[in-house]
Amino acid sequence: MKALVLSGGSGTRLRPLTHTMAKQLVPVANKPVIVHCLEAVREIGVTDVGVVVGAHGDEIAELLGSGRSLGVDLRFIRQEAPLGLAHCVITAAEFLGDDDFVMLLGDNVFAGGLVSEAERFRRERPDALIVTKKVEDPRNFGVALTDAEGAVLSLVEKPRDPVSDLAVTGAYFFTPAIHRATEDLSPSGRGELEITDAIARMVDDGLRVVASDYTDYWADTGTVRDLLDCNRVLLGRAATGVAGDVGADTEVSGRVLVEPGARVRGSRLHGPVAIASGSVVEDSDVGPDVTVGPGSRVSNTSVSDTILLEGASVSGIGRIHASVVGRRARITVGRGTVGRLTVGDDTIVEVSS
Ligand code: G1P
Repeated sequence: MKALVLSGGSGTRLRPLTHTMAKQLVPVANKPVIVHCLEAVREIGVTDVGVVVGAHGDEIAELLGSGRSLGVDLRFIRQEAPLGLAHCVITAAEFLGDDDFVMLLGDNVFAGGLVSEAERFRRERPDALIVTKKVEDPRNFGVALTDAEGAVLSLVEKPRDPVSDLAVTGAYFFTPAIHRATEDLSPSGRGELEITDAIARMVDDGLRVVASDYTDYWADTGTVRDLLDCNRVLLGRAATGVAGDVGADTEVSGRVLVEPGARVRGSRLHGPVAIASGSVVEDSDVGPDVTVGPGSRVSNTSVSDTILLEGASVSGIGRIHASVVGRRARITVGRGTVGRLTVGDDTIVEVSS
């Protein structure tokens, strides 16, 4: 079996971060989202992985390299424009050949991995297996209708009136039968070739498509709130350990990871917290639910439920909560009574009154 990890897309709901970086590279619990994805692939014993990339492809390739450090062998496949998930399969057809494959959306996180789903696919070998999850409001997802045994009866992409509460997640197991189903698809209302339409065609053609209901935590990290929730859940399960330089004047409690090369002084770290290498924390309260990215700085600030990306800096600003601070962004207090802001496109700044 091969794997296809989709890492294109424009990430409009995560602007401004995605103006300059791929959404799959945002760190959650101190690992880029796509790394969590590749770990799930490795865990099901698949090492031959195609990564479909778009505009931010070079940066993704630079971060992941050959994939060796993650135990996988990566091939980057460029998609000329974000024309949909079925278009990704068409673009990757040569790499996929006649093999079965698992397809994962590089911005989806399956906290408990996908081992039992992969086992079911290998054991039963239906024409396709989709991983579904019951959600309160499925209108932003593909929605599946299944029979009592989990066989898929119908599938609709982002329906206005969903026929069930089963959202299609970003994990799919396919036999090569998917390739016929992607032929001659028409673009959807959003102008994309939808994988949901291709799978619906398999169902219409009488092929066996089954749904596996995911019982663990799943996130589509499409919005800031989703990212922060996912960060909280994964930090609660992540490895802990203080390998960095944490001074005796710092209090550490709960699940805390401090990577080598990080420095902490005069602070309180309330886990879950992950502090990446090269970062400095001083005179601050950090946590719970905080990821401090590599080379970031937190000084004289209380931070909770927040992700700081690489090289970000917050200093002397009282308390920040439920925030994402972009790479190399600086938030600080000015000397006078007037604030000075350099705020990029699509940025949200909410100051306390
Ligand atoms: C895509 C799929 C959708 C699926 C979702 C899961 O949506 O088209 O069927 O439910 O991923 O994350 P998109 O993120 O492209 O809107």
